[in-house]
Amino acid sequence: MITDHTLRHFLATPLAIGGREARGRLFMAPMAKLGNTAFRKIVTDFGGCGLLFSEMCWAGSVPCGNGHDQGGFTWRPDEDLSRLVCQLFGSDPATMARAATVVADNGFFGVDINFGCAVASVCKKGCGAALLRTPERAAAIVHAIRRAVSIPVFVKFRTGWQDDPQIAVSLARRFEDAGADALTYHPRVAPDRRTRPPRWDYIGRVKAAVGIPVIGNGDVFDRRDCVRMLARTDCDGVALGRLALARPWIFAEWTSDYRPNPGVYLQSALDLAQWLEACYGPQTGRRRFHRYAAYFTANFRYGHFLYGRLCRAPDLAGVREVLRRYLSEDLDVVERPSMHRFR
Ligand SMILES: Cc1cc2nc3c(=O)[nH]c(=O)nc-3n(C[C@H](O)[C@H](O)[C@H](O)COP(=O)(O)O)c2cc1C
Repeated sequence: MITDHTLRHFLATPLAIGGREARGRLFMAPMAKLGNTAFRKIVTDFGGCGLLFSEMCWAGSVPCGNGHDQGGFTWRPDEDLSRLVCQLFGSDPATMARAATVVADNGFFGVDINFGCAVASVCKKGCGAALLRTPERAAAIVHAIRRAVSIPVFVKFRTGWQDDPQIAVSLARRFEDAGADALTYHPRVAPDRRTRPPRWDYIGRVKAAVGIPVIGNGDVFDRRDCVRMLARTDCDGVALGRLALARPWIFAEWTSDYRPNPGVYLQSALDLAQWLEACYGPQTGRRRFHRYAAYFTANFRYGHFLYGRLCRAPDLAGVREVLRRYLSEDLDVVERPSMHRFR
């Protein structure tokens, strides 16, 4: 049974997945536009993250290779892809399998299939969570990818379109039978835009139903949440989404003796601005920084004020000025970042 005292040891323990080994059990969840190579640099420099999942990549564009930014399939020349899992979205098994082959050839740790994204633009194309309505097609995608690659195959999914744990259990079994090596499960129904609490008890049911590792996900915003999720569900690891955006050092903090000092807020935000500029140029870099600012400012009691200032900054030089001005003074940091403002 995981407790506050054993958490660090557990999260730092390697996890065997499909013949490979993740160095730890705390993972960065896939996040469109945000799990990009610049942000991954910040997370990996702090350390402690067992595996990082990429932003979702459109399977049709993956065979075009690194640098085709539109599809998200991009990385830095110095990036260690052996710690990175590439998430794909698409609806055609053959296209998904072809993309997975390119992922494997480039040396990624594994490939992840997105059956969790419920945004309209993705579901309209019959991708993401839309595939949970047709489990046989979703399983055909898993099966096609399994046959195409020998690297670990992950599936990320939600409960489905109705709030019934039996649906999640049956999906999980199908994915395992189709050849998945690990599951990341976010126990919400597809139409729920993170407004209602996730059903962590469903994670326990999925874990009990399959023999492959299950990574729990959803609303882990502090250490206590992490202990509770693990203790209640017996899952094999935890994927952090929004908390990682707010505190990219959280993996190091929970898996080692790293203790953040107050200067980490300013320094990591400046580093992120620098890497976004280096990877995407000043204009796109500024736009992308605003997305992070929404989560990062949730660390502060008057975060909405800082967020407004950052959004009004005309360029990255202005962003840096605001950061230096407001984050060099006494910081009013909240213990648990408030994610309610930004979903
Ligand atoms: C901005 C944002 C983008 C996301 N993009 C993806 C995505 O591309 N693929 C995916 O499977 N999930 C995506 N998610 C869902 C997260 O991976 C995760 O399941 C969800 O945020 C719940 O975890 P959390 O409570 O730790 O944030 C996204 C979430 C956020 C906040």
